Amino acid sequence: MSKHKSSGMNRRSFVKLCMTALAASTQGAAFAAPRGTLHAYPRSLLTDQTRRPLRASDLVVGENYIFHYPFVTTPCFLVNLGAPTDSEVVLKTERGKSYAWQGGVGPDASIVAFSAICAHKMTHPAKAVSFINYRHERVRFLNNQKEGLEGSQVIYCCSEKSVYDARRGARVLGGPAKQPLAAVKLEYDDEDTLHAVGTYGGEMFKKFFSEFRERLQLEYLIQDVDRAIGAHTQVTPLDQYCKTQILC
Ligand code: FES
Repeated sequence: MSKHKSSGMNRRSFVKLCMTALAASTQGAAFAAPRGTLHAYPRSLLTDQTRRPLRASDLVVGENYIFHYPFVTTPCFLVNLGAPTDSEVVLKTERGKSYAWQGGVGPDASIVAFSAICAHKMTHPAKAVSFINYRHERVRFLNNQKEGLEGSQVIYCCSEKSVYDARRGARVLGGPAKQPLAAVKLEYDDEDTLHAVGTYGGEMFKKFFSEFRERLQLEYLIQDVDRAIGAHTQVTPLDQYCKTQILC
């Protein structure tokens, strides 16, 4: 009896040892994760609609905000997810290049920013309409095996139904997109302000300008649509930036 018990204890110890080893090796893998290449762009302070520095703690949880970075016509989503995100999420671009997403920043490590240009065919928010939106609530979508799923805190492009996971670096959860949305690297400081300092992942800006230059010129009433945003970029709730949001 006691031998049997002892043998059970040994098995448990062995399993525990294996779990510990697995955790250690997973941790090791995280430390060894690729940092990815930061596409550095000029540092830009996020401001509110009165052009004063935006206070990170004023961001409403679950609200979909828009700002432009790194160019005057390239929209990005800014969201306070309301809870700390995963960090050091290892992702891959369509070309197979690995990079590690930094995770959320801010007082609760919950603020994230991503390019709002869909990685499939570059649907993006315009002033008249947006087919791509952050969805804080639970929504239904199909994964790549065409299975129906439900999930919250996703960025959903209603053009062809690509869905991205805002908690994990905008990795693709479903639909035709072949890579995550490019991530915006944010820096948070002890004044409670945020700066955008670069991007990582598969940015699509060259293709975006080549395809939409004329429309962007008409919408933004400027010629140099690929001008750098500069030292400040204004943050606006998407429902004020855009007349109509198409939700799916
Ligand atoms: S452009 Fe977004 S899914 Fe096709």
